[in-house]
Amino acid sequence: MTTLYIKQNQLALAGEILRQGGCVAFPTETVYGLGANALDAQAVARIFEAKGRPSDNPLIVHIAEKSMLEMLVSTPSEVAERLMEEFWPGPLTLVLPKKDTVPDIVTAGLATVAVRIPNHDWALEILQESGLPIAAPSANRSGSPSGTTWETVRDDLDGLIDGIVCGPPTEIGLESTVLDVSGEVPRILRPGKVSCSDLRKIVPNVINFAPKSVIPKEVVSTFNSPGLRHRHYQPKAKVVLVEWNDSSDCNHSSANFASSGDFASSLKTWYIGTQEPPAHLVIDRKMIVNSIDEYANRLFLYFREADEASVQMVFCEQVSESELGSALMDRLRRAAESE
Ligand code: TXA
Ligand code: MG
Repeated sequence: MTTLYIKQNQLALAGEILRQGGCVAFPTETVYGLGANALDAQAVARIFEAKGRPSDNPLIVHIAEKSMLEMLVSTPSEVAERLMEEFWPGPLTLVLPKKDTVPDIVTAGLATVAVRIPNHDWALEILQESGLPIAAPSANRSGSPSGTTWETVRDDLDGLIDGIVCGPPTEIGLESTVLDVSGEVPRILRPGKVSCSDLRKIVPNVINFAPKSVIPKEVVSTFNSPGLRHRHYQPKAKVVLVEWNDSSDCNHSSANFASSGDFASSLKTWYIGTQEPPAHLVIDRKMIVNSIDEYANRLFLYFREADEASVQMVFCEQVSESELGSALMDRLRRAAESE
């Protein structure tokens, strides 16, 4: 299949391809998404095929405006309404009880559907042009770091999908917060830019259901978070998390290795973090970021560049688990997970 490269003045064409049952990748404020008509099971099947995505991992449905929710869910709860009011358009995905119109393939057979309105002009224009709810997982091969530039989407999916919208690099660089509001107590299933404290300002009883450690795959289903069952965000290079003992009485920084490996100096090693790596680490290239936002924004691209350069190991500084730091640590832990 020849993939069409779509420019900003051709967004109507992207909408048309989606209406005809095609698959198109487009930018959002979080990461690039790979979209198809959420009401067309065959179109959605093509997303799973192109990504090599396991069929038990459900997709997020994107809409241009709240009125389109009617196609997907019955009357949302008052809590859901309040959250939409506050955070849409934006990087918050809400898991809601679904209508029968949503094909099982979108939700992996669950009785709920995940929905969000992205806060990105290009995405909104494409969604408007299509006039449809669009199912869109991150636009990358399953298991790999999410695509944050159109070039990385091309590297993964050229020849496998109908179109790639050549938009700007994404602003946030990590996927949306996923909040399950289908039950009594709202539960964060995946941390993202909209933090637990942001959510608690609107709905005080939100609980953080995203595990802080890697959960054995056999028991994950009890967490009702299908995305946790699968390998995620992993470059080919081994990811090693390092942390600094800031509170220790010697004030030079020393690293602890969260996951140990064989790091002989013959290895090609890279580093990303907010602080300089400790002198005893042999590093071939480093990226010192100025903030957690920048760290989040650069991480997936850095992983991909490391793979292109055949790097064997990427050291990543651990950050404190607050606000976007929680989302970043979630992705780092899962990137560092061994097979
Ligand atoms: O920022 C984002 O969310 C991006 C952009 C493109 O919008 N999309 C994205 O999609 O990250 P994806 O497929 O890579 O991740 C979707 C996550 C998975 O963890 C999946 O398990 C969860 O949402 N999910 C989807 N539907 C669900 C449901 N009904 N119940 C629970 N979790 C659900
Ligand atoms: Mg993904």
